[in-house]
Amino acid sequence: MTTAPAYADAYGAWKRDPAAYWAAEAAGISWTTPWERIFDPTMGAFGQWFAGGALNTCYNCLDRHVQAGRGEQAALIHDSPMTGTVTAFTYRDLLARTEKLAGALAALGVAKGDRVVIYMPMVPEAAIAMLATARLGAVHSVVFGGFAAAELSVRIADARPKVIISASCGLEPNRVIRYKPLLDAAIAMSPHKPDACLILQRPQAEAPMTPGRDHDFVAAVDAAAPHGCVSVLATDPLYVLYTSGTTGKPKGVVRDNGGHAVVLWNSMKMIYGLDAGDVWWTASDVGWVVGHSYIVYAPLLRGCTSVMYEGKPVGTPDAGAFWRVISQHKVKVLFTAPTAMRAIKQQDPEGKLTKAHDLSSLDALYLAGERCDPPTGIWAHELLGKPVVDHWWQTETGWPITAGFRQFGLFPFKPGSGGRPCPGYDLHALDDSGQVLPAGTTGNLSLRLPLPPGCGPTLWQDDANYRRSYLADFPGWYRTGDAGLVDADGDVWVMGRTDDIINVAGHRLSTGSMEEVLASHPDVAECAVIGARDDLKGQTPMGFVVLKAGVNRPEADIAAELVALVRDRIGPVAAFRDARVVARLPKTRSGKILRGSIRKIADGEDAPVPPTIEDPAALDELRVLLAE
Ligand code: COA
Ligand code: AMP
Repeated sequence: MTTAPAYADAYGAWKRDPAAYWAAEAAGISWTTPWERIFDPTMGAFGQWFAGGALNTCYNCLDRHVQAGRGEQAALIHDSPMTGTVTAFTYRDLLARTEKLAGALAALGVAKGDRVVIYMPMVPEAAIAMLATARLGAVHSVVFGGFAAAELSVRIADARPKVIISASCGLEPNRVIRYKPLLDAAIAMSPHKPDACLILQRPQAEAPMTPGRDHDFVAAVDAAAPHGCVSVLATDPLYVLYTSGTTGKPKGVVRDNGGHAVVLWNSMKMIYGLDAGDVWWTASDVGWVVGHSYIVYAPLLRGCTSVMYEGKPVGTPDAGAFWRVISQHKVKVLFTAPTAMRAIKQQDPEGKLTKAHDLSSLDALYLAGERCDPPTGIWAHELLGKPVVDHWWQTETGWPITAGFRQFGLFPFKPGSGGRPCPGYDLHALDDSGQVLPAGTTGNLSLRLPLPPGCGPTLWQDDANYRRSYLADFPGWYRTGDAGLVDADGDVWVMGRTDDIINVAGHRLSTGSMEEVLASHPDVAECAVIGARDDLKGQTPMGFVVLKAGVNRPEADIAAELVALVRDRIGPVAAFRDARVVARLPKTRSGKILRGSIRKIADGEDAPVPPTIEDPAALDELRVLLAE
């Protein structure tokens, strides 16, 4: 297959003249005011795209498709094995519901620039809430439902929302999760209080309302007048999405309106090969960036039909669930995390459950969220007989950094590689002094500034932290925090993080924040959390604690308390189930805990004794403990 020249043409066109490239791409978006400057290097932390331009993202997702005659096409299909329902919303329907919710929010005082926190399970109202907020030119901040009250509270305190939209409950297999008590606790903990909450009552567990603050979602929408689109600057924020940083405090990644709309619109065709009218399914959650970009915004910007799935790859009801959804809705491209494929493979290794379903609509499977391990990529490729494309990105970029491109013709299948850089990204591996490394050499994967449109231009009200976190180490570059290499063909291999962020079932978590929780236990003197290899989830956290002198309570009790504490403070999503008491932690002579060595031992790898180690016996003790 020699289709790479088309890719090379597009990438080369961008490299030769980025302004002309982005001007052409921006023609896919309806602007209320054309931009004055394609890129303004004086704005923000590294410059901003489409300066002076104005638009409304919700208009581009909904109104313009209805005006263009797409009103009767399904925009969103909500498929919930948790409730046994499938509900399709046409573009006309989705617009009408969004206009009304925008009216309800406006009636509660939400206006351009105000924040709205959305803490909801995978219900269609979550997508409608995002679009309605965008319609008003307000800024949403969606918080994943698997986070605990304390994490929600930190986000409320930072974003200072005027209104919070939530639901009475979420549905996990065999478990109803009451969201409302978590929301109430989070608001109680936060120094900032919202003016109002809109609560979607779900019949599985209705929630008591707080008089004067809480409003019934459905009643408020019914009573509201439809609201039109408020034009905002391309450089105004569309949303803030908090993601794990290296400390306990999450980073509020800002997404602007203009660049975001342009790149997402473009990516649906360039990367995934989809046109208006095609059916697309991203099996993720609206609480993650993948859900923001590819459940809600990109498919709607392009005029596609987006499937929103409230279920799991396995257990709802079985490992054939994904194949059922593909065949029932005639999905053309599926995007999910490798962990979902591993879960299916574990339960149905021969893929027998595919046989019951017609998968002929499926053209390709795209994977992201973590590196796709080659055995899983090969398994899916052989099972489906369709291209399997691993592509790499992060919350900060909002769209893929590297990918395979259906518009240009896919690259030859190289299991384990994340594809090649999308036009817009000048990607290199750098050594620790910031020098570009030759092809094939592993280093700090970094992007030469400026970042392309769509990438987070800053952190919420914290330019300084953005510069410190991403731009300071290598002047002129954005440091991704991932290690990897670019091979001689230009294919990129992303091998893991260079910081203490771990990926658990495609969910990004900070071991630093878990250490903060463990350290807060009264019996703990010091601790370390590492991400150990896990066959299903990719990584799972493991905690090691040294107890304070004189503590002689049973270790099992303390370990159970630590597990409960992380669940209570961070949430079930942390999947923290393994806490071990140790006599001491391996450290360097300067007192730095050797987390890399601990991880290697936990993974059963050779962990050479570093020359700087204070006491080599500490490593031997760990080996013995973990071998038990
Ligand atoms: N609200 C509340 N709790 C949630 C939740 C939500 N939205 N999502 C997950 N949880 C809970 C789960 O119920 C589970 O709780 P438990 O400890 O009581 O069992 C815990 O958080 C961990 O969830 P998860 O990591 O999803 O593990 P799992 O064992 O339930 O399922 C997979 C494993 C692989 C099936 C599942 O992680 C999956 O489908 N992953 C797809 C990957 C994905 O969507 N990634 C997003 C980025 S692309
Ligand atoms: P998130 O911000 O939650 O999307 O997580 C981003 C991080 O997940 C990246 O920095 C990588 O460490 C990892 N990641 C996401 N997709 C991939 C991929 N395709 N290959 C390797 N790592 C990935």
